[in-house]
Amino acid sequence: MSRDRRAHIRSRLIHGKAQTSRWDFSHHLVPPVSSTATFRLDTTARGAKGFQQFAAPTSQKGEPDPIYIYDRLDEPTRGMLEDNLAEAEGGETAVTFASGMGAVAAALLVLLRAGDTVVAHQRLYGCTYSLMTNWLVRLGVRTHFIDMTDLDAVERAIRKLDPRVLYFETPVNPTLELIDIAAVRRLRGRRKATIVVDNTFATPFCQRPLSLGADVVVHSLTKSLGGFGTVLGGAVIAPKRLEADLFLARKDFGAVLSGPSAWSVLVYGLPTLGLRIREQERTAGLVAEMLLDHPRVKEVRWPGLDGYRWQELARRQMQDWDGNFAAGTMIYFLLKGRPRESRRACERFIDYMAKSAYSVTLAVSLGQIRTLIEHPASMTHAMIPAAEQRKHGIDPAGIRLSIGLEDPRDIMHDLSEALRKA
Ligand SMILES: Cc1ncc(COP(=O)(O)O)c(C=O)c1O
Repeated sequence: MSRDRRAHIRSRLIHGKAQTSRWDFSHHLVPPVSSTATFRLDTTARGAKGFQQFAAPTSQKGEPDPIYIYDRLDEPTRGMLEDNLAEAEGGETAVTFASGMGAVAAALLVLLRAGDTVVAHQRLYGCTYSLMTNWLVRLGVRTHFIDMTDLDAVERAIRKLDPRVLYFETPVNPTLELIDIAAVRRLRGRRKATIVVDNTFATPFCQRPLSLGADVVVHSLTKSLGGFGTVLGGAVIAPKRLEADLFLARKDFGAVLSGPSAWSVLVYGLPTLGLRIREQERTAGLVAEMLLDHPRVKEVRWPGLDGYRWQELARRQMQDWDGNFAAGTMIYFLLKGRPRESRRACERFIDYMAKSAYSVTLAVSLGQIRTLIEHPASMTHAMIPAAEQRKHGIDPAGIRLSIGLEDPRDIMHDLSEALRKA
């Protein structure tokens, strides 16, 4: 057992592998940013060996002496980040991509063939929905959307459709319902379906889907793992047997995470993940309670709130690395009123915030140190046609809030002012 293996995960995400052949930075406390498109190969024989390593079914990850050739194939900073991401999720390997969508697309591409079926939860991030309905169909892959919180529906779909992939987010973006990963795994039984979970909302601090029975995890690094909103990125954490295909998909489709972006997640994002999430989660609890008590608010969803519908599952499924309940940093709430009325009220409320609030910013994305507010029906989930939104449970009165690191009193002040005046 090497020196770094004995440390707890929090320390490992700061120090990474104590010794790595990816880069000799024994005199650099912080790994330098690698920013080179191509690498010196020294001899034809070394170049040939590098290409063989890269193309081999078992890729060069874990090789004692990786030979870097060209940035789009592999690169040291990304490699160090991938080692740490695999650690954080408890997976065999991680492969990074230029964005979360790059990761989602690659995971699905390596798993699916023409004629296959995907069973997915009926609510998904808008671009994932678009990927399935606009692109996978062109490749001969059909997606059936069902309510995966309903385990009977999951069982029926598995029996009837024999899907190749079961795909969901939990907590779900934006509505924060939970899907029981272990139960889906039991229902899948010995069938072929691969369970893919988008863990962007929870982050590996709050939930490790692989330990609960998922096969593959996808992430948008743009969110809490990056943490500061400065870079785009994505990652797939998967069994070793998918590694070579994931590398191949990245090489050939070209959605490569840049070295400087990888560096920022490696040096700032992952090492501060636990600290940020714990603090943001504390604030989320205060904000959720405040919203719950407000006469203009119809419903509040946050997994730590009393009365939250999936509370028992949340306590079982959402735990930090020490086994403590970890409810996350996202809140979803609905304003009161009849549909058209409440949509207008939402717009007034959010526009008031955009104009007057100091600590809450109208912007999509999430998981940053700034608190962000958005209206899913007209923004992040607008790719779902208006007529389909109701069917997919995207309520026009719904508001998504991503809690940042501001003083909770300022966030609550901004929200209550807007609720009072808008
Ligand atoms: C749950 C979820 N998955 C995937 C993505 C896509 O990530 P990216 O914007 O980095 O491509 C997002 C983006 O908002 C998301 O919220």
